[in-house]
Parts: sequence; C-alpha cells; structure tokens
Amino acid sequence: MKCPRCLKHNQEGTRRCACGFSFDEVPPADLQGWFAEVKHILETAYIAAPTPWQQSGKSGTFEEWTRLRLPNVAAVNEPGRYLDIGCANGYLLECLLAWTKLKGVEIVPYGLDYSARLVKLAQARLPHYVDHIYVGNALYWQPPLRFDYVRTELAYVPHNYRRAFVERLITEFLTAEGKLILSDYRSRRDDLTRGWLEDDVRDWGFAVEATYSGYGEDGLELCRVVILRAGQE
Ligand SMILES: C[S@@+](CC[C@H](N)C(=O)[O-])C[C@H]1O[C@@H](n2cnc3c(N)ncnc32)[C@H](O)[C@@H]1O
Repeated sequence: MKCPRCLKHNQEGTRRCACGFSFDEVPPADLQGWFAEVKHILETAYIAAPTPWQQSGKSGTFEEWTRLRLPNVAAVNEPGRYLDIGCANGYLLECLLAWTKLKGVEIVPYGLDYSARLVKLAQARLPHYVDHIYVGNALYWQPPLRFDYVRTELAYVPHNYRRAFVERLITEFLTAEGKLILSDYRSRRDDLTRGWLEDDVRDWGFAVEATYSGYGEDGLELCRVVILRAGQE
C-alpha cells in the first residue's frame, strides 16, 4: 500500500510508514490532523491530474478504470438512490449512471466528499445533481435521507474506527433493504496474496451477502467489492 504522505510503497499490514504516517490506530487526539493531512494530499494530487479517472485517484487507462470500477454496479439490479462516499470529481458517479443505464436500471446519484474543491468539480460534472453532492467527512456526516446503495472504502478512516463506521453506514445511511458496497482497490505493487476486506468485515460480525471482483488486463484481481445488507448483521 502506498503511503499518502511520502508515496513510498509499504508491505500490507505495515502499521506505520518510515516517514511516520500511521496506517493503523490513530488516537482520537490525532484524528483531525490525520484527516487534514490525507485530505490535503489527495486533493492536491487529484486536482492536478490530467484525466477524469486520475482526478478520482485511479492511474492507468480508461479501460483499466472501467474494468476495476464496474464491480461497483454488480449488485445494482433495482432502481434507487446511490450514494458514492468519497466521490472525488464525480467521475465514478457519471460512469455509474451510464453503466446502470446499460443494465436497464435507473439510479439517482448522490455524492459525498470531504474536499470542497473536489465537490465543486463533481457538481460541474453532474450539473443536474448539484444539490445531491455534499461536502462532509464520512465519519461524522449526517445523511439528510436514506439510500438504497451506499458505496465507500474503509481506507477513508483509520483502522480503529472502521467497525463503527460500517455499523453506522448500515444503520443510519441505508434504507431497510439497502446495500452497502465496500470497495477494496489495489495496485500491482500491493501484496496480492493478502486476504481482502471481507476477512475483516466477517471478523467484526457482519454477514457478507456477495462479493464481486475486477481484473486488470493481465488477469490480476485488483478490485474486490463486498456487499452487506441492512438488517443482516
Ligand atoms: C480514491 S477516490 C474515490 C473515487 C471514486 N469514488 C472511486 O471509487 O473510484 C477517494 C476520495 O475519497 C475522499 N475521502 C477520503 N476520506 C474521506 C472521508 N473521511 N470523508 C469524505 N471523503 C473522503 C477523498 O477526498 C477522495 O476524493
């Protein structure tokens, strides 16, 4: 995994990068500093990026973006409201609209990101949905309504907050039949022998309803999406 502070690749499971950045437990007193630092690094890199998918944090080609982001719609078989937590410049939402249309399923897109600058880009990209794209930190944000689909990554909060984060997404964000879509994205430089996020999620006591994978053109699995359902803990 890449350190957001110094960009060095660390072995999976590393608790702290040599530069001092913590991948692991962040005490409450350091949490605001942790969020501020990660936000600044991501925002600066994404805004300067040359392609829409790089402005959403994915390097490589458009084909690879598609291969490794399509699993985010695999469980979307009924119409509904879809919230992308960590929506960056809104490109995933734009693609999700196109991909679900191809499937014959209508979604209404919503986005949340803690970067106001990225939210502005997302609002410009999705001008019909300006009021659906919010600025806020996923750990604290209070949703104004419930969603049929909520997608996010656990990397957005430190390890010691992840179980409670998942719990809150299920109980406070989802409709009664809603699906939580947890994406685990990897790069070729990550340890690809390591287990995926569903191991943690199961250890925490959640029932995994389904998993979907995305593969690079070389056949490597670089995306795993885990589906949890409301009311199925
Ligand atoms: C890798 S991009 C994801 C882009 C797209 N949704 C996707 O799945 O490819 C991660 C985004 O999450 C945002 N983010 C990270 N932590 C967050 C948090 N705690 N609350 C809200 N947004 C967060 C970052 O600002 C960044 O724009």
